[in-house]
Amino acid sequence: MHSAPAPLVDRFGRVHTDLRVSLTDRCNLRCTYCMPAEGLNWLPRAEVLTDDEIVRLAGIGVRRLGIGSLRLTGGEPLLRRGLPALVARLTALGVELSLTTNGIGLARTAAALKEAGLHRVNVSLDTLRPERYQEITRRDRIEDVFAGLAAARAAGLEPVKINAVPVRGVNDDEILDLVEFAAEHGYRMRFIESMPLDAQGAWDRTKMITADELLAVLADRWELLPVERQHSGGDGSARRGTPPAEEWRIAGTDTLIGVIASVTRPFCGGCDRVRLTADGQLRNCLFATEESDLRALLRGGADDDAIERAWRNTIARKGPGHDINSADFRQPDRPMSAIGG
Ligand code: 5AD
Ligand code: SF4
Repeated sequence: MHSAPAPLVDRFGRVHTDLRVSLTDRCNLRCTYCMPAEGLNWLPRAEVLTDDEIVRLAGIGVRRLGIGSLRLTGGEPLLRRGLPALVARLTALGVELSLTTNGIGLARTAAALKEAGLHRVNVSLDTLRPERYQEITRRDRIEDVFAGLAAARAAGLEPVKINAVPVRGVNDDEILDLVEFAAEHGYRMRFIESMPLDAQGAWDRTKMITADELLAVLADRWELLPVERQHSGGDGSARRGTPPAEEWRIAGTDTLIGVIASVTRPFCGGCDRVRLTADGQLRNCLFATEESDLRALLRGGADDDAIERAWRNTIARKGPGHDINSADFRQPDRPMSAIGG
């Protein structure tokens, strides 16, 4: 048995305790801010990590590197076959396990996922209007998402959070409606600033609804009380992670609203995340331009020591933060759907 894990610390003292694992780059939607209508090349199946490989890497993260929370993402992670069995193996490692999904297929799987030990889900939903949903995602599936949300709550995958990316002229007139919908149904609403991570490279800063704009809309309607951030990870000896969502509570209610302002209020200084792509590449940042090929190590017969070393090296090379706001910003080669959110 290995002794207590030495934390995964980088040059800036940030301790990495949160691992995001993309289970597939495929998706059953084609959100316009994420993917082209067609013609995105999927990863060849043979390059995608198997369940055994994912469990081995996650195990090294937990036992040797101090990973304490794990989020499953995609593409759309519910498209992965045999997901409940994988979830059960990952929760057996003793981590806090959550999942980010578009909600389609959740009605069918929520109970089995809960049973397997999954703790929470985040569901993406940018609009409440069926026609608009179809315009944004290019698929007519909003009823499946509503059913998925309800099933997640019924199964106790709570708090059920809804992620929306408000885009000017697309869904920015629904900000208040989304909050009210979430409050009525016992979900927690979170708004995410649109980031330059789409597969087509068509991100347009002027279309992004900034945190300031969003909060102005909310504050016009409700009195908002800031919620003290709960710090995660770390043991006090090094820099602790800051959760990316800033939270507000609507005065006189227990309704919480989260805002993830990656672009206008970057939280890189408190970042505690590391990412594993579906094809086994370790990334130290959503916006990283280089990756470490853990799959090649795994399949080349590397032992746990070698994998731990590669992992620590990747974190040692982590930069201070993204430079979306600089003129030199270069979008990573992989789109969000192939990195995992
Ligand atoms: N910018 C911001 N958020 C995005 N998402 C997908 N693409 C982008 C983008 N370019 C969101 C999805 C999902 C979460 C994983 O990230 O809506 O909720
Ligand atoms: Fe699929 Fe998520 Fe991308 Fe939409 S944002 S196309 S749901 S991966």
